[in-house]
Amino acid sequence: MTVKIGLLGLGTVGTGVYRLITSRGGHIKESTGFYPEIKGILIKNLNKPRKVNVQGLLTQNAEEILKDKEIKIVIEAIGGVHPAYEYVKEALSEGKHVITANKELIAKHGEDLNEIAEKNGVFLKCEASVGGAIPILHQIDRLKITDEIDFVGGIINGTTNYILTQMSTKGKSYEEALIEAQELGYAELNPDYDVKGFDSLYKLIILMRKVFNVNVPVNSITRSGIDGITKEDINYIAKWGYKIKLLAWGKKVKDNIFAGVEPVVVEESNILSKVSDVNNAIILKGDSFGEYVFVGRGAGELPTGDAVVADLLDVLLNYNIKGNNVAKFLPVSEGSFTDTFY
Ligand code: HSE
Repeated sequence: MTVKIGLLGLGTVGTGVYRLITSRGGHIKESTGFYPEIKGILIKNLNKPRKVNVQGLLTQNAEEILKDKEIKIVIEAIGGVHPAYEYVKEALSEGKHVITANKELIAKHGEDLNEIAEKNGVFLKCEASVGGAIPILHQIDRLKITDEIDFVGGIINGTTNYILTQMSTKGKSYEEALIEAQELGYAELNPDYDVKGFDSLYKLIILMRKVFNVNVPVNSITRSGIDGITKEDINYIAKWGYKIKLLAWGKKVKDNIFAGVEPVVVEESNILSKVSDVNNAIILKGDSFGEYVFVGRGAGELPTGDAVVADLLDVLLNYNIKGNNVAKFLPVSEGSFTDTFY
């Protein structure tokens, strides 16, 4: 059985997703029963050279994907709010499951998009929007069953962690390290999102929604980035045994939630100081499990693609970690669970 997928965007994330789905299709079929086939890919520029062989799949017309009844799953990898918001809304309304890596979209519109998904009986999944390859949203769903989690935070932007690491260990300038992060496919199209802390802020909002069941407005959290930090600052604090890390954190104290995104001076012996390059580290504190630190690659083509594919597997297995096991792939009148993919 084949399930047809529409891919929106073929940048860093889209390319990683394409590579993984095409190279692991057989394994995905073995474990889920469904062979994933990418039927169409939405791109802006038909003439741009691509790193993958996508002959015959490219289109500049979103409706060719969103209105195609054969396409049951849409993977959104465009980034930014518009037109991603309109496309995701339309896909959900058309009864398609949506998987997205788009943190700004989910931070700003996750609540209403979740409602649309719910209303249409389809999944909206966003594991890749936070922590790159770290399966943090899945883990939080699991841990919330047995715990009251009162803290979530850590390093959730790969680009800034890469820049700070390169500045402190290789003596590179801020500008040199940023260019490298862009070349490696870690940075956002507009790297101000990374270095000024917006990317961390969006991810923090998604984490806090999951952990604390709250919708925190984007502009209600104090945010500062690393754009004012110099090599001299880093060298100076290193002499005293410290490093600078861009941290994002949310903490629940009784009924109050405190949160922030800011560069923090961290002792070299602290676990967060040892998280280098593009890696992210997410700390959770709960009343049963105590403390967890999840570390993994926070950005890049394949790590992010891997998180998207984790959501794809969930959709294909119809596995809902909350235990609902609600198999609402399409309106019930259109057939059984397996029928929907023929
Ligand atoms: N620019 C982001 C980062 C990409 O560096 O973390 C992954 O979300």
